[in-house]
Amino acid sequence: MSADSKAVYSPPNKVVSISHCSSMEQYRRMYEKSIQDPEGFWGEIAKSFHFEQETTGKFCDYNFDPSKGRIFIKWLEGAKTNICYNCLDRHIEAGKGDQIAFYWEGNDPADRRQLTYADILRDVCKMANVLKGYGVAKGHRVAIYMPMIPELVVAMLAVARIGAVHSIVFGGYSSESLAERMIDAQASILITSDAVWRGTKLVHLKDIADGALEICKQKDLDVKKSIVVKHLCRVTAPQSAANGVANGNPSKKTHFDDKGQYKVGWKEGRDVWWEDVMKDAKSDCHAVWMDAEDPLFMLYTSGSTGKPKGVLHTVGGYMLYSATTFKYSFDYHPGDIYFCTADIGWITGHSYVTYGPLLNGATSVLFEGVPTYPHTGRFWEIVEMCKVNKFYTAPTAIRALMKFGDEPVKKYNLSSLSVLGSVGEPINPEAWMWYYRVVGNSDVSIVDTFWQTETGGHVITPLPGATPAKPGSACYPFFGVDVALLDEEGKEISGEGEGYLVFRRPWPGIMRTVYGNHERFETTYFKKFPGYYCTGDGARRDADGYIWVTGRIDDMLNVSGHLLSTAQVESALVEHEAVAEAAAVARPHHVKGECLYCFVYLAEGFEFNPKLAAELKGKVREKIGPFATPDYLQATSVGLPKTRSGKIMRRILRKVAVGDKEFGDISTLADPSIVDVLFQSRILDGKA
Ligand code: PRX
Repeated sequence: MSADSKAVYSPPNKVVSISHCSSMEQYRRMYEKSIQDPEGFWGEIAKSFHFEQETTGKFCDYNFDPSKGRIFIKWLEGAKTNICYNCLDRHIEAGKGDQIAFYWEGNDPADRRQLTYADILRDVCKMANVLKGYGVAKGHRVAIYMPMIPELVVAMLAVARIGAVHSIVFGGYSSESLAERMIDAQASILITSDAVWRGTKLVHLKDIADGALEICKQKDLDVKKSIVVKHLCRVTAPQSAANGVANGNPSKKTHFDDKGQYKVGWKEGRDVWWEDVMKDAKSDCHAVWMDAEDPLFMLYTSGSTGKPKGVLHTVGGYMLYSATTFKYSFDYHPGDIYFCTADIGWITGHSYVTYGPLLNGATSVLFEGVPTYPHTGRFWEIVEMCKVNKFYTAPTAIRALMKFGDEPVKKYNLSSLSVLGSVGEPINPEAWMWYYRVVGNSDVSIVDTFWQTETGGHVITPLPGATPAKPGSACYPFFGVDVALLDEEGKEISGEGEGYLVFRRPWPGIMRTVYGNHERFETTYFKKFPGYYCTGDGARRDADGYIWVTGRIDDMLNVSGHLLSTAQVESALVEHEAVAEAAAVARPHHVKGECLYCFVYLAEGFEFNPKLAAELKGKVREKIGPFATPDYLQATSVGLPKTRSGKIMRRILRKVAVGDKEFGDISTLADPSIVDVLFQSRILDGKA
């Protein structure tokens, strides 16, 4: 099925007729207001939330230009609120305590739970009291490393309730990555779980977390408590694991005792079971009133130096922005059933599994599993079962499922669906069309939402009831987002054109700093183009004003929607004694969007063979996590293409990786002959 990229798809009537924003005229009016009068626009929205104290200072104040002093962004100065109170207490006080907040769907379809708003508040208060008992107070950092279970939502809200700062680390990261993030955040408490099934794979979370705590200890970080949810015993193991041999998991034997119970390592005094500490905890706990600009959470994202950046978001602006984008981008209405497949360990899960939906009093699906287990129709089975009408996933998942054809989708009744969202990477028009026609039965709005960990919420997105969508385009800016495209000299491009995607002013959800390193925040986002926030992405504006995000223009790549820096991968590879130098580049991949193609220059005396290749891949898994494993490793005996000043020219390596001989000007290379040698020995498809 080929997609017509010039086609425009108008929102269906069923969406338009009830939409919060039901025409482009209305969008333009609201957008104008948000830009001309931010205080009036956001001030009106703020009225739906509980503020213990109204704004006393400036509604919005900022500096985006380093030559005028430090970069800063402030919204709602002087206002006091608590996001957990707004997610839970506010709705319960309005009589919605018995409403389902989450349908929890386990990895195995037999494992299901339902949680009401009142259930969550009770558990949040208990956990908040437990944390207080361990000395956690306002501003302290709490690390969370958990599977997609209700306790993860409870943990983050409990932290927010008492004014502490959560730092959630995705459960696919390695011990070293978790430790690095905990040390940077100086987190004194960790909340984790024993283990989790992801499809047929058993992920030993506590083992990995224990490894991280060991590293923390060596680096003088004293983690006082590790709170562990006992999860595995309450879920159904995959069939393949039932007879004692976990599928492809040789460690199974050592992790289960004679009775089939999962065993974990235990450190008395430090480790406590979640269930034990919750038992006697009091089920009421005051929400701490926070200044709007107090930190809410930090979330690490890849940085081009290889060291992750702790992106810091604050309470007030993030609350308004995650709630408002959720309401308008998905056109949320009471009674909707919403399902976002993202893991809470990423920003999408923060803003659109936890905060956005709960702030709107929504009912959502919280899904523990993977799209292909126990069958490739798992997403659609859940959509049918829960009558989901708003669904949000990543292009990489769509492409992976497309491979199985239409039949696993068509088996289910998906007529409840009205809005389908996409996030994390550019969506290719073919995947867009399949999503629209096969999943959406050509009777839905597709919202291709562009945003970043740093932006807190959607910044460029269609609105389901208003925007005629073009497959592959994120369309127009969200309210309050002032987009510009710049050329290499920093000059604004007006009308049609392509350039650096930047924003002229802050919206409430933008990050405020890099935790512990404000200078890095200034350098990364504001130095290249003073006066603008620079996304690091390129974009094109077409004749109708639609924005087409073309991808990263810095040394970052996006594997299955996970942002990685080339430096991060290279520094993992060079840790192996066999590697003298390494260079990582992106190569297009039919499912992952991009995958890693790595060049390694071996040290004297080493020979490239399958064993070494496996060790090198293992090194990347150990340092970062399995999702970062290179698909291609090419050894070179002649070195890497460098300029005379010693800079590796990745532009050339990207061409080698895709087999494109149009290298352009290579005269600046110290040794241009290297290029031909690399090209001759490049890895062809299927030879990885
Ligand atoms: O390159 C853009 C890509 O993902 C990057 C942000 O990654 P991260 O901070 O991990 O957040 C991902 C989830 C919001 C961006 O700089 N990206 C994200 N969404 C899109 C996208 N690229 C194109 N289209 C999108 N809809």
